[in-house]
Amino acid sequence: MNNPGPSRPGFSFAPEIPGPRFGVLGSGKGSNFRALAEAWKEGTLGATPAIVLSDIETAGILPLGREFGIPTHFLPPGPFRTKMTPEAEEELVRHLREARVDFVVLAGFMRVIKAPLLEAFPGRILNIHPSLLPAFRGLEAWRQALEAGVPEAGCTVHLVDAGVDTGKILGQSRVPVLSGDTAESLHARIQVAEHELYPRIVREFAKQIQG
Ligand code: GRF
Repeated sequence: MNNPGPSRPGFSFAPEIPGPRFGVLGSGKGSNFRALAEAWKEGTLGATPAIVLSDIETAGILPLGREFGIPTHFLPPGPFRTKMTPEAEEELVRHLREARVDFVVLAGFMRVIKAPLLEAFPGRILNIHPSLLPAFRGLEAWRQALEAGVPEAGCTVHLVDAGVDTGKILGQSRVPVLSGDTAESLHARIQVAEHELYPRIVREFAKQIQG
């Protein structure tokens, strides 16, 4: 690749980043993706986001990807609410392969991953979940924690397997539950922890798969 030369006013060049390439899948606003992309821009992630894909056409993560200069695509998921059709998932795999990604990062992707994607990237799909797994799998884990009255919540980065939030745990951050917390205030505190945890674990994972 050409050396871009010294930076000029109005231009900023992404640092030359060696390391594996990853695809990002998200259905929402993309704050975890932003944390990853900012670490990438700062040159501290040790990996490069190569494509952002969403099953929701209006998801904030798509314009955010473009803001960071990363190719983005909306992929229609098909008629099911909690999973993609096998054909839609094959299409997703095709995009990831074309983007030559080495691993996949789920950043608020709200559908269960099935065989086409699991088999295309075995042991190479990461997810972040807003609880201290194995506690509180599934939806709105922060609300589950609040309703259970536990003193501590948190977030977990794990490998994705065929179950829901069941794969090998790669890292966790703990967050206190405060008196007077609402579901919203607790989720906001967990998200702050997520934005520190995910880049840290992606960096470790990228280093590990490079050998
Ligand atoms: C996060 O709370 C994450 O733990 C869960 O979905 C949410 C995504 O948020 N899997 P964002 O789109 O990254 O802001």
